[in-house]
Amino acid sequence: DEAEDTGSEGDADSGELITVGYAQVGAESDWRTANTESFKSTFIEENGYKLIFDDAQQKQENQIKAIRSFIQQEVDYIVVAPVVETGWETVLEEAKEAGIPVILSDRMMDVSDDSLFEAWVGGNFVKEGETCGDWLADYLEEQGRGDEEINMVTIQGTIGASAQVGRTEGMANKLEEHSNWKMLDMQSGEFTQAKGQEVMESFLKSYDDIDVVICENDNEAFGAIDAIKAAGKSCGPDGDIIVVSFDSVKAAFESMIAGDLNATFECNPLHGPRVAEIIQKLEAGETVDKIQYVDEAYFDTSMDLETILAERAY
Ligand code: AHR
Repeated sequence: DEAEDTGSEGDADSGELITVGYAQVGAESDWRTANTESFKSTFIEENGYKLIFDDAQQKQENQIKAIRSFIQQEVDYIVVAPVVETGWETVLEEAKEAGIPVILSDRMMDVSDDSLFEAWVGGNFVKEGETCGDWLADYLEEQGRGDEEINMVTIQGTIGASAQVGRTEGMANKLEEHSNWKMLDMQSGEFTQAKGQEVMESFLKSYDDIDVVICENDNEAFGAIDAIKAAGKSCGPDGDIIVVSFDSVKAAFESMIAGDLNATFECNPLHGPRVAEIIQKLEAGETVDKIQYVDEAYFDTSMDLETILAERAY
């Protein structure tokens, strides 16, 4: 949302407050909205912070510009949720030269010198993909389809983003364990509902024997489900096609309750307080763990979803 983008307008001169520049990916998914909200509600004046927020609209060049603008404004900390993993060395060196600590949130950066950032906090994307594969194996087994030929397609996330790279890799590891599983096709849905729908429409035109759709986030699954229904097919536990996704946002619970989505593998977006804790430790001169994974669960239609949804924070 461009209206919320204050990256170039912020003023880092804020007296006693700790100024934090957050270079956010965009507003592509429910997960992302929850992540932004987590930062905006944590980094407030009452907590001793001033937040300068930038929405990069899923473009790395916008994030690089935002980081340079934060450096120019002499912020105290830079937080980045990098769109993709590669291509960050130069701008991180600029931040280092300016003496501004960088903290990574959500996705990872692939840099040769890991002193270029203080810490990273996020989900274990490979593990999420593997958990999805293990769940699928158990589910097919329960259905008496453990030895059947199973045709799959994947609607991937933004190519080169850790969440895409890790989830694809995790599922690939599980494909190796099941010689009867066949991945027919993989295409990016850019982590959005609209693109997820578009990709699923094209998969349905190319293949008439899809058993499973792996969506690398919930919003892509919502689009895929619309495409499946529009093509006159059904999905979910009682349908023709098994649909699974990642994130576990509230709307995914509604989709499972409606009988459309089979399972969702959690990725926790509430990083604001975790990043604040890292900053407080750095302020106190303490050392922080470089890599900080958050705990993640999964949810499927065998669970009491109404009860879980009632307590869900995002
Ligand atoms: O990097 C986390 C991923 O990014 C989430 O799965 C997705 O919804 C978001 O766009």
